[in-house]
Amino acid sequence: MTAMAITSADDVLLALANVESAYGPIKAIRGVSLKVRRGEIATVLGSNGAGKSTILKTISGVLDPTRGTVTFKGQDITARDPAEIVRRGLVHVPEGREVFPLLNVHDNLLMGAYTRNDRDGVARDLEQVYGYFPILKEREKQDAGLLSGGQQQMLAISRALMARPDLILLDEPSLGLSPKLTKEIFEIVVRINRERGCTILLVEQNANMALNAADYGYVLENGRIVMEDTCERLREKEDIREFYLGMKDAGVRGERRWKKKKTWR
Ligand SMILES: Nc1ncnc2c1ncn2[C@@H]1O[C@H](COP(=O)(O)OP(=O)(O)OP(=O)(O)O)[C@@H](O)[C@H]1O
Ligand SMILES: [Mg+2]
Repeated sequence: MTAMAITSADDVLLALANVESAYGPIKAIRGVSLKVRRGEIATVLGSNGAGKSTILKTISGVLDPTRGTVTFKGQDITARDPAEIVRRGLVHVPEGREVFPLLNVHDNLLMGAYTRNDRDGVARDLEQVYGYFPILKEREKQDAGLLSGGQQQMLAISRALMARPDLILLDEPSLGLSPKLTKEIFEIVVRINRERGCTILLVEQNANMALNAADYGYVLENGRIVMEDTCERLREKEDIREFYLGMKDAGVRGERRWKKKKTWR
């Protein structure tokens, strides 16, 4: 775990300052400020509709904010074209494992590398992602649409890696997966961070997995950040333990008790 006692401005890879985004009249995030430091896994926790996906869409340029700024590697990328943001080294794995269903696994992966022209590097990275997810190598020639949900999630993450990003935005990688698969995916996410030095911003409803994998966490409610701390400390907080970790009746169901309303202040 990274203990962030001293942080210089150079350590900050991504910063959001007072970002607001809306869908027509609906304000989805209201003045979000957060930082992701180089080399860490950061997480945003929050229940259904809190605005987690909206934060990621605003960072990757899919959605233009109505206020505030997004800074990546010290440069303002607010409302830039999504393709340009990818070229700068920031990729987004959206919610719901979007793969190209009619392309085979191999071609899906190559699509992830479309901004690159270092063929040797692409070939090496292809072998590396097959190393992370051997099942994808086995299914190399199969159409992605025929893969299981878990395999599609693996493919979506792998395709993002093929862009050799400095930062990956991961939207609910555990959604709809069995506890066993979820655990496997999170183990790989941590390996990707440690072995490739890839910084990750992870958005999750599965607080248990996210708080164990990540270094630093933000809690989002109704479009606002209501708490932030190291994950080590967040895991110890009473509110988090009761509400997000469901410590009173732990287990698979306990991890997803999100319907209950909770106010933090
Ligand atoms: N395309 C859209 N059009 C209108 N409102 C939207 C749209 N997408 C999201 N919203 C609204 O914006 C708010 C934030 O949604 P968002 O998808 O960011 O939440 P989330 O935290 O990712 O939720 P979930 O855990 O369900 O994925 C919600 O009130 C949602 O209903
Ligand atoms: Mg979402």
